[in-house]
Amino acid sequence: MAIGSVAYFDANASTPVDPRVAEAMVAALTELPGNPSSGHMAGRAARRAIEVARLEVAALLDAKLPNEIVFTSGGSESNVTAIRAALAACPDRREVVTSTVEHAAVNATLDRLAMTDGITIRRVPVDGNGCLDLDAYRAALGADTALVTLMTANNETGTLFPIADLVPAAHAAGALFHTDAVQAAGRLHLSVASTGVDMASISAHKLHGPKGVGALYIRCGTTFSSLITGGGQERNRRAGTENVPGIVGFGVAARLALMDAKTDDTAQLRNRLEAEIATVLPNTIVLGDRAARLANTACLAFPGSDAEMMLHRLDRAGIAASSGSACASGGSAPSHVLLAMGLGHLAGSTVRFSLSRFNTDADVDHLIEVLPVVARESRILEIVA
Ligand SMILES: Cc1ncc(COP(=O)(O)O)c(C=O)c1O
Repeated sequence: MAIGSVAYFDANASTPVDPRVAEAMVAALTELPGNPSSGHMAGRAARRAIEVARLEVAALLDAKLPNEIVFTSGGSESNVTAIRAALAACPDRREVVTSTVEHAAVNATLDRLAMTDGITIRRVPVDGNGCLDLDAYRAALGADTALVTLMTANNETGTLFPIADLVPAAHAAGALFHTDAVQAAGRLHLSVASTGVDMASISAHKLHGPKGVGALYIRCGTTFSSLITGGGQERNRRAGTENVPGIVGFGVAARLALMDAKTDDTAQLRNRLEAEIATVLPNTIVLGDRAARLANTACLAFPGSDAEMMLHRLDRAGIAASSGSACASGGSAPSHVLLAMGLGHLAGSTVRFSLSRFNTDADVDHLIEVLPVVARESRILEIVA
């Protein structure tokens, strides 16, 4: 989608709000003044709007019951809530199994818990394509494992973890299973009912909804304690007056993601982008190309070029993309994901182009036109053949 004059290839950072979402949110802002906890008509109308959205988000995740959905402020809050709730539910168990490529919201929370509560964190490695080492995963599980937290799709490379295959071993060890599905929701068919996860995090702004709204799926019957305490909202699972317009927008975004899935041609566009870049810049390396991965993500290394310089030049040419390092932190530290994949030497040369159903062929045409010059002007060293 050209936003203003920008070809926007940073959907994994955030997506443009769908106009139909915006319209519903404006209506909620102006027409639903009541507090959803109030018993009067205005309160009841706001409550109804939230419950409609809950049904829509439950459908997106294929949850059995709408009440398995708790609205939060986003993917980060959902992740932190899930991790802390799982540890509180199993006080006798002191270990968490995760991977080396999780999002900062998981990583930093686990590091904090290791420091403050002495929790042992077992980080399972990945291979050069970002695939989880399944033997190491099984070996990491044990009688002390309280929780497994593994992402469904990686935000930098798009690589998928086979969640449905990973859950049974965690359950056999008596652990809960949480997945950070923030990048997967709206881009893949998800079914929490059939994968058997106990908790799953999603975020509205990755699927053309508003920023600052997310959800945590909590399987019915899972012992749970809330992170934010106070009033009894969200059935005592998340205190605070609900973000009614945000939740309404999230519901519409979830419905549209399901509706538009059939006509979504993001995969063809991403494949075209990768094929044409390989033609104009044959040295380009597609990271994660041997793994099952999201159809919208192209994580590309341009050996010999500096990613930050490229991003700056692309930005000046009206193209928004990102590097692994910047998407997580806004800084320039090497991406922990690429380091974990053993690709540290490429970390400074890797640019992520992430697409959505709003991208067009014209966006790709523009990128292909400017990229060879951008890569050449951003060279940091000569490659010796
Ligand atoms: C995999 C993953 N998890 C969690 C988050 C955090 O989501 P939010 O921005 O809604 O807090 C992100 C956002 O980039 C993400 O990519």
